[in-house]
Amino acid sequence: MSKTFYIETFGCQMNVHDSEKVIGTLEHQGYARVQDEADAGLILYNTCSIRDKAEQKVFHRLNEYKRLQGEGKKFAVLGCVAQQEGERIFEKAPYVSLVAGSASYRNLPEMLARLEAGETRITGLDDRQTDLTFETDFTSRSNPHRGYITIIEGCDKFCAYCVVPYTRGKERSRTSASVLVEARKMADLGYTDIQLLGQNVNSWRDPSGRMSFAELLTAIGNISGIRRVRFTTSHPRDFTRDIVQAIDATPALCDHIHLPVQSGSTAVLKAMSREYTRDWYLERMSWIHAAQRDISITSDMIVGFPGETDADFEETITLIDAVKYDAIFAFKFSPRPNTPAVHMADSTPESVKDQRLRILNDRQREIQRTHYARHLDQIVEIMVEGYNPTRNQVIGRSSQNKTVNFTTAQLENSTPPIGSYLPIRITQTMPNCLIGEALPPAGDATPFISINRTPHFVVLN
Ligand code: 5AD
Ligand code: SF4
Repeated sequence: MSKTFYIETFGCQMNVHDSEKVIGTLEHQGYARVQDEADAGLILYNTCSIRDKAEQKVFHRLNEYKRLQGEGKKFAVLGCVAQQEGERIFEKAPYVSLVAGSASYRNLPEMLARLEAGETRITGLDDRQTDLTFETDFTSRSNPHRGYITIIEGCDKFCAYCVVPYTRGKERSRTSASVLVEARKMADLGYTDIQLLGQNVNSWRDPSGRMSFAELLTAIGNISGIRRVRFTTSHPRDFTRDIVQAIDATPALCDHIHLPVQSGSTAVLKAMSREYTRDWYLERMSWIHAAQRDISITSDMIVGFPGETDADFEETITLIDAVKYDAIFAFKFSPRPNTPAVHMADSTPESVKDQRLRILNDRQREIQRTHYARHLDQIVEIMVEGYNPTRNQVIGRSSQNKTVNFTTAQLENSTPPIGSYLPIRITQTMPNCLIGEALPPAGDATPFISINRTPHFVVLN
């Protein structure tokens, strides 16, 4: 049992992918992953602290682990709460033996050796100034078709509300050569869909000086076998026009850009230290709107930032009306430890913030209801992700990152394999998804295989 581990992961895609690398590293060190914490000798908890009462939630979960400590299990806390809370974790949960932030993961083999030797207070917390990234040959990717590649770690932007620069350390990019080697290896293994990750992915700067971010996108999009390339999350400050030109010129680059604006008010953006104005952001939107391809735009928004007035909030509403996002992720401001915004005067009642969040989401839903209608009767290529037996529909994802639920009229007892690509005619549009029918396969070729339709929802993440 001692060489088995169980891992639980919260947070963003960066965290999910960090866990894939941690899993690969552990497996390479001779550990076997188990799906039930009861069977594990080592329990790892990869945490997130972006919003809400993340710390409390982590301590609550650790408290639940307490009952397992008598069984000789060891516990490790990783990720952003580990970095933020540091050695306080040992005080509050003395049965934890290892606390490490993401900037220290490359030292995991050494930390694991100390754990095995019986040490009980191992920390990886001092690496936030490091220039090194966590690169490993032992990534255990959970999806055989779509895979993540982290190209830049950390963040130097210090937005006033955000905990990330304090939890993930300073910004550091991988070389284009190392990223391209990993992408080519993935293509050779059969991956067709690559998602490039970074807290500010487009702030990537090639340490070898060979390529711009747009050139890196193009180079990955031109790798034989790669059909889709996405990147997330972009920062408006580093968003350049050549990114749009690269998407127009390279079919494998997905027609989707996630460009968080956070607020439509220049005054609030200034208070947030975003270092751009509403007009500056709208100029980037005009580049995307002027593209030859229909590039889907999505965004993150924060309502109720300290000092946000009704008039500021109204500017966020007029901005979403102007941009016509295909999706937004809207959050109520949440004060985070160590950030400047914690100390800003905030007189807006919670009830008003709740109301703003509702108004924003309602308005966006209406925008999507009409904006998604442009896809009616279009033929959209999707990648198959799963099957919904209650609806008898196959679930796919478009290049624009939209969910497409579709039927395959001709085949009752078969479904296209997960990871395959199909053209779908869109017959109906909803505010959050598209509905359609698979086009008959060309010629004799059938992209369908028979499956046993088990009564559960199968979606690979
Ligand atoms: N409060 C509310 N939302 C936040 N986000 C980041 N920090 C905070 C915070 N303190 C949101 C931003 C970011 C997304 C990942 O989470 O919109 O883009
Ligand atoms: Fe959460 Fe941010 Fe850390 Fe990702 S980087 S795990 S979103 S706090």
